[in-house]
Amino acid sequence: MKTLIIYYSFTGNTRRLVSRLKEENNADLVEVFEEGNRSKAGAFTGGVMKSRKMKPAKLQPVKVDFSLYDRIIVAAPIWGGYPAPAFNSIIDMIPEGSKIEILLTSSSGKVQKGEGEVKARIVSKGIEIVSLQNIKTKKKDNIE
Ligand SMILES: Cc1cc2nc3c(=O)[nH]c(=O)nc-3n(C[C@H](O)[C@H](O)[C@H](O)COP(=O)(O)O)c2cc1C
Repeated sequence: MKTLIIYYSFTGNTRRLVSRLKEENNADLVEVFEEGNRSKAGAFTGGVMKSRKMKPAKLQPVKVDFSLYDRIIVAAPIWGGYPAPAFNSIIDMIPEGSKIEILLTSSSGKVQKGEGEVKARIVSKGIEIVSLQNIKTKKKDNIE
């Protein structure tokens, strides 16, 4: 059983979480990065605007052969109640017919308003959602 964890992290919480999971699952870890430099102010303005519209971000080139994996975990932070735009870019890379597990991190850890819409966008691409978890992060540097 080969596991891929593909993720985006802006302030490091999601990165820390998946680093632990990598060890536990003996997984391959792929981090995606946005093109250009995302400032904090930019994240809260343009970034949140995009996340709420479920738009992708432009990513730095990344090559992943999804066919190598039996299990795919996608992880990203919540921005303004929706996954950060880079999450949508990851979803757009995943082949139709795949099954994914979703890990979202947020400071509230609560089910987000946009969850239904987010799931529908994924399912409309022919991707099956095995599970979706929203993991609470205490503060910037601290996963509970
Ligand atoms: C631009 C921005 C918007 C955020 N919006 C929310 C939100 O709507 N709800 C929430 O609970 N946390 C929100 N957070 C907190 C992050 O989701 C949380 O700190 C997450 O763990 C960050 O992951 P990262 O460190 O991997 O980027 C936001 C953080 C940022 C930077």
